[in-house]
Amino acid sequence: NNAIGVAIAGLGTVGVGVIRIIEKHTAMLEQRSGRTVEIVAVSARDRNRDRGVDLSSYAWVDDTTSLADHDGVDVVIELVGGSDGTALALARNTLKKGKAFVTANKALIAIHGKELAKLAEEHDSFLAFEAAVAGGIPILKALKEGLAGNQMSNLRGILNGTCNYILTRMENEGLGFEEVLADAQRLGYAEADPTFDVDGIDTAHKTAILAALAFGVEPDFAAIECEGIRAIASVDIDYARTLGYTIKLLGSVRRTETGIEQHVHPAMVPLETALANVSGATNAVQVYGDAVGETVYIGAGAGELPTASAVMADVVDYASGNNRPAFGVPSNELKKLIPVSSDEH
Ligand code: HSE
Repeated sequence: NNAIGVAIAGLGTVGVGVIRIIEKHTAMLEQRSGRTVEIVAVSARDRNRDRGVDLSSYAWVDDTTSLADHDGVDVVIELVGGSDGTALALARNTLKKGKAFVTANKALIAIHGKELAKLAEEHDSFLAFEAAVAGGIPILKALKEGLAGNQMSNLRGILNGTCNYILTRMENEGLGFEEVLADAQRLGYAEADPTFDVDGIDTAHKTAILAALAFGVEPDFAAIECEGIRAIASVDIDYARTLGYTIKLLGSVRRTETGIEQHVHPAMVPLETALANVSGATNAVQVYGDAVGETVYIGAGAGELPTASAVMADVVDYASGNNRPAFGVPSNELKKLIPVSSDEH
């Protein structure tokens, strides 16, 4: 059988986007991966909600964590969210069965990434999470493959669409962040718990994953110093502007003489730079490699189809047999992060 069977856990915004792409691009996906990509099973909390897509030809599985056990399932796409509970149980169960696990779950990977990568290696399964960082921008692929010949020195990113959307509207309209947050939630960018967005936690999850891929360190969410955008007022942004800067919430990772330094905080970004000009829910990542110099990646950081676009990249990698280690190097080669104490910078 040439088909690969896909199971989707979680049918929110991104899950629906994945269904739409697979249905719309069946022939193209087959050409690109050499196999037919078929959805066989789905699972979500509420069976009866109208999601605007027809689910009737897919098996409905009540116990989400057992999706990998369903007949014909080769790859499980996890879009449930949360760093523990169902998502973690599903990840472990899927990888132990030697099946592929594709996820958009940054919290899960930032906290349990090393354990899951090890499981994938032990069971000769496939683990990938392109959609977990910077939505539709293929930044993990860029770090793992396109920049494989570089030692990275520095990486900075606008990694949370909600915060960037809020900061942009505060800047353009002089509004307070609470007023704009409701719109970001309505547009489907914000996390279920938006404190994850505004307090920088979501950015820190993504930063931990980027640090692992760019610098070969264990993803270590707990080691990231993190400050969000709650304390920023639109007058701060106005003032920054008069000095030639804008304010962006950045996740940064940098190589220092003593170790790898990583943090998340609102930063003054010079107006003439690429990152300063990234507005709305857009994300951007700027990376310095010793061979290539600076490269910058810009694109949609959240939303139904952009995030589903990244999920599909992983599905096509799996289907076509491109199975590199999840973090670019085998999990036992990931170095323990040597935290740089805060008085050193
Ligand atoms: N809440 C996230 C954001 C979603 O606003 O960027 C994408 O990870």
